[in-house]
Parts: sequence; structure tokens; C-alpha cells
Amino acid sequence: MLPPLLLLVAAAVAPAQASGDGCSVGCPLALAAYYFSAESNLSFIASLFGIRDYSALLPYNPSITNPNYIVTGDRVSVPFRCSCLSLPSPAAKTFLAGSFPHALSTPSGETYADVAAEFANLTTPEWLEAANPGQAGTARTVNVTVNCSCGDERVSNRYGLFLTYPLWEGETLASVAEGYGFSSPAQMEMIRRYNPGMDGVSGKEIVFIPVRGNASQVEGIKVDRSIEFSYEELSNATLGFSMHHQIGQGGFGSVYYAELRGEKAAIKKMDAQASQEFLAELKILTHVHHSNLVRLIGYCVEHCLFLVYEFIENGNLGQHLHGTGYERLSWATRVRIALDSARGLEYIHEHTVPVYVHRDIKSANILIDKDFRAKVADFGLSKLAEIGSMSQSLPTRVVGTFGYMPPEYARYGEVSPKVDVYAFGIVLYELLSGKEAIVKSSESTYDAKGLFYMVNSPCI
Ligand SMILES: Nc1ncnc2c1ncn2[C@@H]1O[C@H](COP(=O)(O)OP(=O)(O)OP(=O)(O)O)[C@@H](O)[C@H]1O
Ligand SMILES: *[C@@H]1O[C@H](CO)[C@@H](O)[C@H](O)[C@H]1NC(C)=O
Ligand SMILES: *[C@@H]1O[C@H](CO)[C@@H](O)[C@H](O)[C@H]1NC(C)=O
Ligand SMILES: *[C@@H]1O[C@H](CO)[C@@H](O)[C@H](O)[C@H]1NC(C)=O
Ligand SMILES: *[C@@H]1O[C@H](CO)[C@@H](O)[C@H](O)[C@H]1NC(C)=O
Ligand SMILES: *[C@@H]1O[C@H](CO)[C@@H](O)[C@H](O)[C@H]1NC(C)=O
Ligand SMILES: *[C@@H]1O[C@H](CO)[C@@H](O)[C@H](O)[C@H]1NC(C)=O
Ligand SMILES: [Mg+2]
Repeated sequence: MLPPLLLLVAAAVAPAQASGDGCSVGCPLALAAYYFSAESNLSFIASLFGIRDYSALLPYNPSITNPNYIVTGDRVSVPFRCSCLSLPSPAAKTFLAGSFPHALSTPSGETYADVAAEFANLTTPEWLEAANPGQAGTARTVNVTVNCSCGDERVSNRYGLFLTYPLWEGETLASVAEGYGFSSPAQMEMIRRYNPGMDGVSGKEIVFIPVRGNASQVEGIKVDRSIEFSYEELSNATLGFSMHHQIGQGGFGSVYYAELRGEKAAIKKMDAQASQEFLAELKILTHVHHSNLVRLIGYCVEHCLFLVYEFIENGNLGQHLHGTGYERLSWATRVRIALDSARGLEYIHEHTVPVYVHRDIKSANILIDKDFRAKVADFGLSKLAEIGSMSQSLPTRVVGTFGYMPPEYARYGEVSPKVDVYAFGIVLYELLSGKEAIVKSSESTYDAKGLFYMVNSPCI
């Protein structure tokens, strides 16, 4: 065994490493603490991070009451995806960061120092050079890398969301930590362990500050509040996933009815296992709340993956339009269902961070509640299906359902919100005509036509 003194020396010469070095996965959310100067404004800050609408920043900044009046020196929290990246060359160790393409303004000859200043020192000229090797002076667009942290279980498992904080002149790790309410010796020690080598450093360097899951603070980032159910609890509530509890079957697995902790729930049993990245994504999904979206309550990862949703009493739109035993929907109800679904879709397209493309909009994924209000189901699933180990065990299918996919998507698989807009158009046709998305013109299945083509032909 090494004598204690030697151990100390060994620790002292070990290079300071960010906690994300050597990562293999990232996390869906980190926050950048952007120093608000006299020249700053929210639209500009949002645009640097590729966020189109600055109002997406507001939920992360509850102290901003008037977006047009922010005090110089305040820090604006900017949400971004914290990915596990590696430098283009040489094949380097991996690290955690967000990457933002940034067009250099050529006439004025914008330098890396200018870019670092625009990003309020969330990156440095040296780090820009490292991330864009050999591009200085020639490139028109550079990738701006902003380091981030997803936490470290060896330090604490209580924190999963971190603020990337560039120190301002005179600030130190300890002074910033204290400003965020970490002041006891034990808390200080934890902060130091999250930031090895940063103790006593001042100015320009970046530190990572854990964000507390303070209920009153920020909606949508209470990473650990999503509910994890045990297999036993789900199994008990469905009498061992019995046929009597099954309410549906879809492309990803079967759906069961259950009452869990006093709430009616729909449990989706997925034919797949969950990866770490998948789980991180799921936790984010449990925080997306909107009255026109089916809420994801929680999940279970024992044996296989289960997703627990709020139960919507009145079946799906497809059943109401094409099924038997349902009363004909009135015109006013159809209009309201169209508007409700459009609002749910608009929300995931424009107002969540990250934004989602649903990719499986169809009448079966629009659920109807007891007041005949519509809620969009299954958003975020297609994205989950792409991540990591999910795809191994899922049946390989193009994400989407025939009859609802725009031709260019079916052919080239290009994903954009337009995919959903097209599918939503088909749902509108269904609402208008009462016909199914795929219309069989005779008994032969080979003669099926998409509703789109039927509506656009003169002989319907
Ligand atoms: N939260 C829920 N509340 C009530 N019923 C639900 C809920 N989620 C799903 N269902 C019912 O279970 C059926 C099967 O759902 P599932 O999502 O597995 O398949 P799908 O919607 O037909 O196809 P896809 O896999 O493409 O979404 C749905 O059609 C719906 O009627
Ligand atoms: C926001 O800031 C940018 C960069 O400083 C500037 O170009 C832009 O005019 C500002 N916009 C407003 C509305 O102040
Ligand atoms: C960024 O760093 C430079 C050089 O240290 C400093 O002059 C400037 O004030 C810093 N800006 C911000 C917003 O932190
Ligand atoms: C970002 O992290 C990498 C890897 O740990 C490090 O080399 C680099 O200096 C960091 N950049 C900044 C601006 O802190
Ligand atoms: C920036 O990142 C993108 C995607 O990661 C990559 O395709 C591109 O080559 C990078 N650009 C530079 C200049 O490194
Ligand atoms: C979070 O902080 C607010 C005040 O900033 C306080 O009222 C609230 O009780 C705190 N909540 C938790 C869960 O710590
Ligand atoms: C499941 O049911 C068994 C038998 O009724 C009971 O002993 C057990 O506590 C239940 N488990 C849960 C998590 O509800
Ligand atoms: Mg569905």
C-alpha cells in the first residue's frame, strides 16, 4: 500500500477531469447559465442555442416576470441536450457537451474570441479550436461546444440536472455554490467532488452546479419525481396481465387497464428492454403536461418495459368513426376533436424542449375522454424507438402507419413536423368523410387506396 503522502501526491498530479470525460451516454437536459449583459436579449440567447421561440426559455427562468426587462448580471438558464461527444480528430476521449452550429459573420471577420464572447464564455476560443480543428479563418459555420454534466452516481444520485456556469471575474466555485444555496461543509464537499480541480479557481473557467428539484422552481425538470412502479404492483393491478384487463394491442405491445394508487391507468407492455438513454428520455416525457396530450404517469423496467399512462375512458377516434356500438359524432364534436388534436400536436412541435415529431398520428392514437375532448397518445414513442437497445428488440417497422405517411417519408424516411401535419390532414379527412385511412375498393386487399387519393379523385 502507498504511504498516505504518496497517495496525496498522486491525486495532485492527476489531470483535472470534467466528470463527463469518458462518457458513453448523455442526458436529455442540461442548463447553461448565460450571463445577461447590457447588450443581451432573450431572442438572441435562444437563437444561439437553436431555440426558435424565446418563450421556451421562460419555464426554466421563473424569476423572469418581464422578458423585456432583465437585470444585467442575472443568469438566464438555457435548456439544451447534453450529449456524449468526441472531437473530430484525433480520435479522442469522449466528453459531455451540447453542440450548436454557428454561422460566422464573414464581413466583420468574426473570430473564435468573438464567438466565445457571444456565448458569454460558456465556451472558450481554445475549445472552439479543438472542436473545429484546422477551420480557423476558413469555415463559415463552426460547431460551438458547450460542456455539460449529467451528474455522477459516485458523488450523489440525488442530482441529475446541472447548470453549466462560467465564472465571472472574482467568482469562485465556493461563492457560486453558496449563491445556489449549497453552503454547509458537506454540501461544499459534494460540489467540489462534482468539480474536481476547480477549488479556488477564479474567472473564465466553467463549473457545474446541481439544480435542486425544488417543486416551486421549474416545471418539467423534476427529474426524479417521475414514478417508477414495481412489476409486482403492475402485475397485481392487472391480475397478472390477464386477458380480462387487456384493452388493446398495437405495434409496440399490449395495453392493459388497471387502477394504480387510486388512479385509473392504461399500462402499455412493450416488447422491449429499456436502455439508460431511453430511461432518461422517458423521465422527460413524464414532465410534458398538456390537456390535449395523454399523460405518461410513470414506468417499470423489471422483466420488460412498461409505460403507465392516464386512462382515457372513451376509446379512440378510430373506434368512434369506424367502429360499431358508438353513436355518430355530431359535427360540433368533430370540429372540437380536430381542434383539440391540433393543439396537442402544436404543443409538442413548438413548445417542449426538446421538441417532438410524433410520427404516428392516426385516429387510433387520438383518444376521447368522457367529455368528448381529444388527447393525443403515444407522442415521443417513435423517438424512443430509435434510441439504443430499443431498436434491437422491436420488430423492425418504419415508424408510422400506412395510409398516414406522406409519400416522401415512406420513401426516404425524412422526419420533420410535416410528417405529422400530413397525417393530421388524413385524420381530418376521416373526420369529414367517416371513411378509414385505407379504403379497400373491393374485397381484394391489393386494391386498397389511401384516403388522400380517394378524396382527390373526382369519382369518390
Ligand atoms: N391511455 C389510454 N387510455 C385508454 N385506452 C388506451 C390508452 N392507450 C391506448 N389505449 C387503447 O389501446 C389501444 C392500443 O394502443 P396502442 O398504442 O398499443 O396501439 P395503436 O394506437 O393501435 O397503434 P400504435 O402502436 O401505432 O400506437 C388503442 O387503440 C386505444 O384504444
Ligand atoms: C438582440 O441582440 C442581438 C445581438 O446583440 C441584436 O443584433 C438584436 O438587434 C437584438 N434584438 C433586440 C430586439 O434588441
Ligand atoms: C468573458 O471573458 C472575458 C475575458 O476574461 C471577459 O472580459 C468578459 O467580461 C467575460 N464575459 C462574460 C459575459 O462572462
Ligand atoms: C470542456 O471539456 C473538455 C473535456 O473535459 C475540456 O478539455 C475543455 O477544456 C472543456 N472546455 C471548457 C470551455 O471548459
Ligand atoms: C459540426 O457537427 C456536425 C454534426 O455533428 C458535423 O456534421 C460537422 O462536420 C461539424 N462541423 C465542423 C466544422 O466540425
Ligand atoms: C423550493 O424553494 C422555495 C423558495 O425558493 C421554497 O418555498 C420551497 O419550499 C422549496 N421547495 C423544496 C421542495 O425544497
Ligand atoms: C400484491 O398482491 C399480494 C397478494 O395479494 C400482496 O401480498 C402484495 O403486497 C401485493 N403487492 C403490491 C406491491 O401491491
Ligand atoms: Mg397508440
